[in-house]
Amino acid sequence: MADPPATAPDRHACVLSVRGLTKVYGTGPLAVQALRGVDLDLGAGELVVLLGPSGSGKSTLLNILGGLDRPSAGEVRFRDAALTAFDDRGLTRYRRDHVGFVFQFYNLVPSLTARENVSLVTEIAADPMTPEEALHMVGLDARLDHFPAQLSGGEQQRVAIARAIAKRPDLLLCDEPTGALDSRTGVLVLEAIERVNRDLGTLSVVITHNAVIAGMADRVVTFGDGLVQSVRANPVRRPPAELSW
Ligand SMILES: Nc1ncnc2c1ncn2[C@@H]1O[C@H](COP(=O)(O)OP(=O)(O)O)[C@@H](O)[C@H]1O
Ligand SMILES: [Mg+2]
Repeated sequence: MADPPATAPDRHACVLSVRGLTKVYGTGPLAVQALRGVDLDLGAGELVVLLGPSGSGKSTLLNILGGLDRPSAGEVRFRDAALTAFDDRGLTRYRRDHVGFVFQFYNLVPSLTARENVSLVTEIAADPMTPEEALHMVGLDARLDHFPAQLSGGEQQRVAIARAIAKRPDLLLCDEPTGALDSRTGVLVLEAIERVNRDLGTLSVVITHNAVIAGMADRVVTFGDGLVQSVRANPVRRPPAELSW
């Protein structure tokens, strides 16, 4: 069991604030309204699960929160800054300095070992942990010098998590991180995310369409049709190992 963080995250500090967010893809008769006016506040240290059916706008929201895409209207604030007013350079710097992404597919470099895949990030970050520390956090001490093809899907995803968190980002954004995994290996991936959130106090957002995963969250945001349908707080977080699907 890991030690608790030296200072508990301030759960009241708002890290991301979303107001009236809309996103329309395309124009004219082919236009798709992916977000229809989303309001949401995400606080420091929270673990938030974003639930909702396919096509409801979850990835669109996550990509905007992470500075990968821009909304059509509305505002996102990161701490005191209006993210939506950043130019491309500002967004690139925001992503580099503050955001770790984990996607359904791991996007590791096949010719590099686990340690080297993580080094790609630690070499350019301001205050990174070592690749070994990052891989330790996700339980891969014994896999440092393995290549992606020598690792299971769940292990590859944990390397991707180590890569995302090695720069100590303020936000960890995970889009269907267990979507390609069976439940047994999926649990290990969720445990890695939960541990990062708990030990580093990283605001973490996990997209899933699997309602069972919501049990591990502090808050569950349910999406539908481009809107937040409900937000509920879990009285207690359940460890991923207790969730079965
Ligand atoms: N690049 C894109 N171009 C056009 N439509 C898109 C694009 N990305 C997403 N959409 C549409 O926006 C809606 C929301 O998509 P998405 O945010 O990916 O939903 P989710 O992640 O909840 O499945 C869907 O109708 C989808 O088809
Ligand atoms: Mg999606």
